[in-house]
Amino acid sequence: MAVSHNTYIRGINAIYRQSEGVKTLEDKKNFLQYCQFWVESITHHHDSEEEHFFPSLEKLPGMEGLMNINIEQHKTFHPGLERLDKYVRETRPEDFDGKVLKEIVNSFADKLVAHLHGEIETLIGLQKHDPDGEEVKKLYLVLEKAIIAKSGLVRYTAEICREKVLLAVNEYFFVHTRII
Ligand SMILES: [Fe+2]
Ligand SMILES: [Fe+2]
Repeated sequence: MAVSHNTYIRGINAIYRQSEGVKTLEDKKNFLQYCQFWVESITHHHDSEEEHFFPSLEKLPGMEGLMNINIEQHKTFHPGLERLDKYVRETRPEDFDGKVLKEIVNSFADKLVAHLHGEIETLIGLQKHDPDGEEVKKLYLVLEKAIIAKSGLVRYTAEICREKVLLAVNEYFFVHTRII
C-alpha cells in the first residue's frame, strides 16, 4: 500500500510541477492525458479499497469500524479530484492553462497527501489485532487480485505494474505512460 500511495504522491507532484512547463500543443495534449490517467488510477484505488479491502478487514475480530476514518478522508478530497477530472477531460490542449490546473490541485492536494500517509498509519495500527500481519496480508493480496482483474476498465497499466510506475515518475510523465 505504501508503494502505491507513494506513486500517487509522485504523480500529483509531477502534475503540479509540469503544469506550467508544457508549452507545445502536443505536450499539452499528452499532459492532459497523463492527468486523466492519474485521476482514473487513484479513483480506482479508493473505489477498490472501499469495495473490497476495507469491508474484508473489518470482518476480522476486533477490526470493526477501524477503516471508517479512511473512508471519511476519501470524501474530503474527492470533490477536488472530480474538479480535476472534469478540467483535464473537457479542456482542449489549446485552452489549457497551467495556473488553473494548479489552483485545482491546491484545493485538495494537502488533504489527499495527509490521507495517503494516514492510511498507512491505520494499517500499521492493525498490528494490535493481527500481530504477525498474516490476516491483513492475505486480504491485501485479495485486493491486489481484484484490482488487477478490473484493470481492463481503466486505460493504463502504469499504476498497477509498479515497476512501470517507478519508471514513469522518474522520467518525463508522458514517455512511460502506456495506453492499453
Ligand atoms: Fe490506499
Ligand atoms: Fe485510501
